[in-house]
Amino acid sequence: MIRTSALLLTILALSAPDAVLAQKGARGTAAEGRVLFHSPALSTNGLACINCHSDFDEQREPDGLMRAGHPLYNATQRATFWGQQENDPDRYQSIGDAAVVCVEHFMKNPDKLTARQVESLSEYLKFKSPRPLTDALALTAAADKTGQYLGHDGGDRIRGRELFYSACHVCHPNANGGIGVPIPRDKDPAFYARKVREGDGLGAVLSGLDANAFALSAGNFMPFFGADRLSKSELRDIIAYLRSLPAQ
Ligand code: HEC
Ligand code: HEC
Repeated sequence: MIRTSALLLTILALSAPDAVLAQKGARGTAAEGRVLFHSPALSTNGLACINCHSDFDEQREPDGLMRAGHPLYNATQRATFWGQQENDPDRYQSIGDAAVVCVEHFMKNPDKLTARQVESLSEYLKFKSPRPLTDALALTAAADKTGQYLGHDGGDRIRGRELFYSACHVCHPNANGGIGVPIPRDKDPAFYARKVREGDGLGAVLSGLDANAFALSAGNFMPFFGADRLSKSELRDIIAYLRSLPAQ
């Protein structure tokens, strides 16, 4: 946990919202936030918030897709974000501030967010919080502390195909390159498991596996899938599907 907060401090420092201060006073709106949430306007790689976070009740109204980040429905009033401690003086003060790191890192936008954009996203997510939950939501980054990723073979490739299209196709269309790179078919199960659990490295840092796995300046941006977003058995099935595909 200590290591986690240290990382979050680093992220926070790197994401200091200078633009925010410069534009104090600008008024954002929920309508503008809705567009920012759904369109790739904020990114340089084609990603939008909706690719990684749902803004609706996933349990009651599933849309068939599986996203790497937590749902942001009913989330505006959460005590903390990114698994931060409630007594951490440097914790993100609002859901809009907690999004800055996603824009800078996952969406590769060095301009971060303007004050107006933070406000618009916050207003939209407030609108999407009819019954806000106040408990903090833990991060469940699930990198294998041994680094070995054993036990990811023997999955069901038929089920894996369906899961692949729900969770990975958006960035790896038909397992080829798109927003992400083409996925090789001939690797050991551990290769795929590591990438899904660690993503661009942030999953390894947040799990306490390797404090140096993540560099904000690196070009990587695959999001890690935590244990509450993709179970081990689902991951195993996806891996069986990928390994069953013909060589490219
Ligand atoms: C490429 C995927 C990706 C994109 C795009 C992305 N995020 Fe995230 N975001 C994540 C991941 C992974 C986390 C880690 C915590 C988690 O499980 O939600 C996260 C965390 C967050 C959190 C903290 C959630 C929590 O449960 O504490 C907020 C708030 C957030 N993102 C907002 C946004 C907003 C708003 C956008 C669009 C401007 C955005 N994110 C774009 C992947 C993404
Ligand atoms: C939001 C976009 C996104 C999603 C969703 C995504 N990936 Fe990726 N993936 C990437 C990017 C981008 C890369 C290139 C490396 C990086 O940026 O971290 C990558 C790289 C990979 C690699 C390494 C390829 C290599 O040759 O090194 C594998 C394996 C992989 N992804 C598997 C998956 C699987 C399986 C899923 C679904 C569970 C998935 N990805 C979901 C964006 C994504």
